[in-house]
Order: sequence, then C-alpha cells, then structure tokens
Amino acid sequence: MMANPQNQTVLITGASSGVGAASAKLFLDKGWNVVAVGRDMAKLETNLPTSSQLLRSVADISRSEDVRQCVEQAIARFDAVDVLVNNAGYGITGPFEFLTDDQIRRHFDTAVFGHMNMMRELIPRMRRRRRGTIVNVTSEAGRIGFPYNSIYEAAKFGIEGFSESIRFELDQHGIRVKVVEPGQVKTAFSRNSDEAQSPELRRTYEGFEKIERLMRDPNAGVEPERIAAVVYKAAVSTSGKLRYPASAISLKVFPFLPDVLVRSLMRRFMR
Ligand SMILES: NC(=O)c1ccc[n+]([C@@H]2O[C@H](COP(=O)([O-])OP(=O)(O)OC[C@H]3O[C@@H](n4cnc5c(N)ncnc54)[C@H](OP(=O)(O)O)[C@@H]3O)[C@@H](O)[C@H]2O)c1
Repeated sequence: MMANPQNQTVLITGASSGVGAASAKLFLDKGWNVVAVGRDMAKLETNLPTSSQLLRSVADISRSEDVRQCVEQAIARFDAVDVLVNNAGYGITGPFEFLTDDQIRRHFDTAVFGHMNMMRELIPRMRRRRRGTIVNVTSEAGRIGFPYNSIYEAAKFGIEGFSESIRFELDQHGIRVKVVEPGQVKTAFSRNSDEAQSPELRRTYEGFEKIERLMRDPNAGVEPERIAAVVYKAAVSTSGKLRYPASAISLKVFPFLPDVLVRSLMRRFMR
C-alpha cells in the first residue's frame, strides 16, 4: 500500500453517479485530490460533496477533444494524475440482430474508445514521470457470457484483453494496469441502459423479458460503496496483480465449470 496518499491525484470517469461517485467520495475521504468527470455539471454538483480537493470536469469520454481538455484542466489544477479510474459506461441489452449499427458503434465509442481516449492522454504523462496506475472498471460480464448482452460483453471482454496485453508494455515504464470486475450493483445503470427496440424481438427470442426483468431489478446487487472499496484497493496496490473480481459469487464459480454445465445453467436461467 502507498505510505501517504496526500497530494496524490485520481481522475475518475463516470463520477456523477453510482460506482464513480462512490469512488470519488472514498478517495476524497482518504485525502486524495479528485478529478471527477461526467457529462452533466448539475449531476456532478448534486452527487459530490464540496471540497477544495475536488475538480469537477465536464467531458464526454467518447470525444477525444473533450478528453484532451479535461486532462489539461486536471494537470493545470493538480500538476499530475497518479491514478486513472476508467469507470464511465452504460449497459446495452437485446439480441444482436435487433440492435442497430448506430447503437453498437455508440456503445463502443464510450465503453472501448472512451477508455482508450483517456489512456492515450495520460500514458505519455505517466511514462515521463515513471509512475501511474490505470484501473479499468469492467464487469463479471467481461469474463462470463450472459445471454442478450453480446455487445456489452464484447466491449467489456475487449477492455479485459486490452488491459491484459497493455500491462506488459506499460510495466517497463512503472505504470500498473488493473481491472475491477463488479457483479450487479445498485446504481442508475439499468435505468441508463440502451436496449433493442424491435417489437418482434419478444416473440422471436426466448427468455429476453425474464433476463431484462432480472437486470432491471432495483433490489438486486451490492451497494456501489462495496465496489468503490475494491477500486481503491486496486488503485493503491503496488503488486502486479491485474484482476480484482468484485462480484458476489459468479467469478468464483463460472470460470471453473465445464461448458456443458454452463450451457445447462444458462438455458434454465432463460426459461
Ligand atoms: N451497475 C451494475 O450492475 C454494473 C455491473 C458491472 C459493471 N458495471 C460497470 O460499472 C461502471 C459504472 O456504472 P454504474 O453502475 O455506476 O452506472 P451509472 O450509475 O449509470 O453511472 C454511469 C456513469 O458513466 C457516465 N457516462 C456514461 N457515458 C459517458 C460518456 N460518454 N462520457 C462521460 N461519462 C459517461 C455517466 O455520466 P453522465 O452523468 O454523463 O450520464 C455516469 O456518471 C460502468 O463501466 C459499468 O459498465 C456496472
């Protein structure tokens, strides 16, 4: 663990809500400078406390120009960014054939290219200082295939693979890469999710409504503070460990099951 977090700066995307807001509050409580990024200043103001150590920054991470300005603002205020938490994101559900090309590209623009935009700006700065940590918030859905989540999973599996590879090239420059993998969390996530719209899909694909209901259950999942604690642990770790599972049980079980059992469980889950 780092000896003294004073004067350390973390930049957190998606900090206006849920896991990002809980993480921003935790880092502030621990004495860090926090750059809280979201698209809506009113939400950043309502959901985060007043603090001289907090910079609220409005940026859409899918826009590289927004990201460049956001990082410049952060450096102007706090001199450097020690930790990047790439957390911003939203869900997208539905059978692949009923999702439009535009919905899919928009999703990747945030969930994949948005994370890369932040990393492209911050890696050279971290490399020159020979230190930094990048925490990418993925999901249990970045390791396990759930039905009707193919595009969300493609993005999260993508960030998992990207992180697993890039850590080797960044390690030589003193930059650590981590992934935090939540299960279901009680946030605005399902409300903010995109969804396939065709009226045909419900009569064409079995179990979609059931899965949708489970995903939208407001009582399911853990509090975002539980995930924020794992984000913090990953951010201050000096170990080379990449993955920080933060789901209740799925990641302890599913990756070790034979495929025949996984298929039978998923079939039952969909009925
Ligand atoms: N909740 C779950 O069950 C769950 C499970 C596994 C993984 N996760 C992951 O956890 C992360 C946080 O989600 P959450 O549950 O905290 O959801 P949330 O409450 O809906 O928060 C999502 C945050 O992402 C921001 N955001 C979305 N698109 C953005 C963009 N293009 N540019 C900038 N900010 C953007 C939103 O900011 P605005 O104010 O601009 O809308 C919001 O602050 C996501 O990566 C999600 O995939 C969530």
